Amino acid sequence: MTAPIRFLTGITTSGTPHLGNYVGSIRPSVQASLRDGVESYYFLADYHALIKIDEPARIQRSTLEIAASWLAAGLDPARVVFYRQSDIPEIPELTWFLTCVTGKGILNRAHAYKASVDKNSAAGLDADADVSAGLFMYPVLMGADILMFNAHHVPVGRDQVQHIEMARDMAHSFNHRYGEHFVPPQAAIEESVATLPGLDGRKMSKSYDNTIPLFAPRPELKKLIAGIKTDSRTPGEPKDAEGSALFQIYQAFASADETAALAQAFAQGIAWGEAKDMLFERIDREIAPMRARYEHLMAHPQEVEALLLQGAVKARAVATPFMARLRQAVGLRGLAHTVKAAAKAVKTDTASLKQYREADGRFYFKLVDAKGAVLLQSRGLDSPQMAGQSIALLKARGLDALADLQDRLEPFDADHGPLRQALQALSAPTE
Ligand code: TRP
Repeated sequence: MTAPIRFLTGITTSGTPHLGNYVGSIRPSVQASLRDGVESYYFLADYHALIKIDEPARIQRSTLEIAASWLAAGLDPARVVFYRQSDIPEIPELTWFLTCVTGKGILNRAHAYKASVDKNSAAGLDADADVSAGLFMYPVLMGADILMFNAHHVPVGRDQVQHIEMARDMAHSFNHRYGEHFVPPQAAIEESVATLPGLDGRKMSKSYDNTIPLFAPRPELKKLIAGIKTDSRTPGEPKDAEGSALFQIYQAFASADETAALAQAFAQGIAWGEAKDMLFERIDREIAPMRARYEHLMAHPQEVEALLLQGAVKARAVATPFMARLRQAVGLRGLAHTVKAAAKAVKTDTASLKQYREADGRFYFKLVDAKGAVLLQSRGLDSPQMAGQSIALLKARGLDALADLQDRLEPFDADHGPLRQALQALSAPTE
């Protein structure tokens, strides 16, 4: 069986889910999590919320609303790893590791940070006025979210693509320094998922205050839909489907046949009021069964809490050992271990091959004896593969490999006793 593809995405806990979030993120993510061969990590990005929001009650409320919405929309916590970012202490720890391998200049170029700086400059203010270090570090925290679980695909909106590219950079610079630990992630942009227009026809978004809450009670949903902006054409006058917010929202919920039927009704001059009724009923048909579950979960927050804590246990089963490995890799190590390792090296008394990269950007390998004295030194090579191949050849053929590798090696004395012994030992079959 092939290894599953890992999807990961985070939802900032800063608001109440609306129909745009449902169509653009919740619905496709829940569907994707049901596919075979896919492993999904979905989480509530509450550390990210702290960057924008300093109302504790709102963070808590939003966390509950978003978790309840995803669960109500059919997310199966047994199939996916569904957790709250702040339940995973390894994430801020990894954030620091990544901070130390991320160029400050890269973060200077992040869109969200730059937008704030540009706005300040245009207003004649200090460039960093009211910009927190949290906003500046946003991409690193997001990089840690992604790299912690070595996600392959990160479904996000277009505005987040730059962040995924930054996470790739972080993966590369960490791997470059400390060995291959991270999989460079890729943004997964769902081209087929439309952005939903809001009440005023602009993109549905909290910042435009034009949203329809996903789980508004039926009467409120009806009222909000009645408020969708339309033109002033009277009943009987043909109406344009194109450019109509009402039509687009309908399309996001309806089948192709239903959509075609509405298009025809538009051409035949359906009254706006009647079209709004159709839209209301169509949305409610999809949402009503979920709304019951949502209302149940909102009334029983302890159930949501328990599910999130179970999710955190699953997430940490991956994060804790991985973080331990990363701590080792960067040199945050127990001291007792060093002492033992040194003692062992003396005892075994074997030579070893090392592969590394120098400041000149080239790749090297060398054979050193147990005390660290160099027996064989490579020249600078173009790729890590060349160094790896050479090492493999030395291990497979020992002394016999030397002639073939001559071009890759600094001059050496093939008759040097310790070199010959080391190569013989290296290529001897192990027990
Ligand atoms: N920044 C994302 C947004 O605003 C939320 C987020 C946080 C995220 N961490 C993530 C998305 C990791 C994908 C992967 O939409």
